[in-house]
Amino acid sequence: MIDVNPASALITAVPPHAPASPFDLSRDDSYQRWLSSKLEHYPANAEQLIVEIRDPSALSRAERDAIIERCRKTNMAIYVCAAKYAYDKKRVQALGEQLGLRHMDSNLCADADSISSVRVMPAGQHHEYVPYSNRALNWHTDGYYNPPAQRIRAFILHCASAAAHGGDNALLDPEIVYLLLRNQNADHVRALMQLDAMHIPANVQAGEEVRSACTGPVFAVDDATASLHMRYSARRQYIRWKADAATATAVRFLENLLTGSSRYVFHHRLESGQGVICNNVLHSRTAFVNDPAGHRERLLYRARYYDRIVGTFAKPESA
Ligand SMILES: [Fe+2]
Repeated sequence: MIDVNPASALITAVPPHAPASPFDLSRDDSYQRWLSSKLEHYPANAEQLIVEIRDPSALSRAERDAIIERCRKTNMAIYVCAAKYAYDKKRVQALGEQLGLRHMDSNLCADADSISSVRVMPAGQHHEYVPYSNRALNWHTDGYYNPPAQRIRAFILHCASAAAHGGDNALLDPEIVYLLLRNQNADHVRALMQLDAMHIPANVQAGEEVRSACTGPVFAVDDATASLHMRYSARRQYIRWKADAATATAVRFLENLLTGSSRYVFHHRLESGQGVICNNVLHSRTAFVNDPAGHRERLLYRARYYDRIVGTFAKPESA
């Protein structure tokens, strides 16, 4: 099995006999083979992503296989826990570990255990970040501002408590975005794979730089696993796109794709005890309304990982 520790992922050599990556723009044959298998029996709705599990910290073989099978097809699964296991953060971490997710990212807003408690925060405590408000959150992949050595390859979003109204998620597989762009015009993908396609300025709070600027591609292929990685945010004020015509055209196509309706977008409202486990798919959420008196305040536990979910590598893990 290939080690997906981020450091080793960057230095592992691809064996000369390894099959071509379907994301290699110079290899249309491998792309076409991958494309037909990708779209065959692609799920039509979020219900088909759901896996019922008893205890997230002790998956049965069948539960684990069902999650991996969905993630292999769509890069995501929605799990629904038995009610008595709904609220435990340690069980979320244990769930990830059983699926090969071990190297956790700790971001500015994470708790001491590296798992973020995402809820509406009062002024002064992450209040300036949209995820910690009740406002709508536009399309993005997590950690799009991270440097390449700290790519967020997977995350778990576990709902400990749902809002009174709203907070619905939309989810979209980055591989589907890739193929829609490539089928339209391979130059779109070529533009978004440029190493300087997307620049995220530094995060400066009260005159202090709390995160460095970062420049990188939208689409990248991991050396060790040949898997596709996507960085993106629809929040224009946080991104400076490369100033060339190809990038501008590709970004416009991507924006139109995400603002239009697509049969490939899954819609689901996470209820208490449910979660999404995924290879960092594109996601958004609608605004929501809490009801503190009725104990219906949205609280999500979010764990981000440098690993991909085991069994979902584009290149066979035995290669
Ligand atoms: Fe997110």
